[in-house]
Amino acid sequence: MNTEITTPTAEFTQRFTSIRRGARLARHLAVHQLDAWGYAYGSELSDTAALIVAELAANAVTHGRVPARDFELRLRLTETTLRIEVADARGERAPMTGTPSPDAEAGRGLVLVAALATDWGVADRQVGKTVWAECALPGNRHSSANADWHRAATTGHVVS
Ligand SMILES: Nc1ncnc2c1ncn2[C@@H]1O[C@H](COP(=O)(O)OP(=O)(O)OP(=O)(O)O)[C@@H](O)[C@H]1O
Ligand SMILES: [Mg+2]
Repeated sequence: MNTEITTPTAEFTQRFTSIRRGARLARHLAVHQLDAWGYAYGSELSDTAALIVAELAANAVTHGRVPARDFELRLRLTETTLRIEVADARGERAPMTGTPSPDAEAGRGLVLVAALATDWGVADRQVGKTVWAECALPGNRHSSANADWHRAATTGHVVS
């Protein structure tokens, strides 16, 4: 399991209420943060990240939900990789992928994540678990961003 990552150059962490609206908000804030980091709305990375965050957040609020406990989204940007982490409070149930039958109405979220991400996995945490996925960064940051800014970027909105 890949729990060791390189030092992030920028990081964003936010907690959300474990309801569907919280999951939608997580997706919106993720693409907003990526835009602020120079990956514009509608870019390939933004669209890919939006899908991954949406699937992982939806799972957190359905399968990983513990009443009265938030879930947490973390985005970590390194020189080469965007790492998306969604942590929920439920430790005793693990995400699992299978091959959904063609007429199955569910069971595709993690298949999609696995197809979109360069790597993904599940890590234990003190309470619950973290489901993570990584995407390789393209070289197509929009003009408002530059490498110096990128290196200077620091932690986003951190909620403890
Ligand atoms: N955060 C999680 N906590 C606990 N179990 C999970 C979590 N995420 C996924 N799972 C388990 O893994 C299974 C597969 O997840 P996946 O997202 O692929 O499908 P789904 O959520 O059942 O359906 P869909 O995403 O297509 O609406 C889930 O049915 C659930 O049993
Ligand atoms: Mg799902």
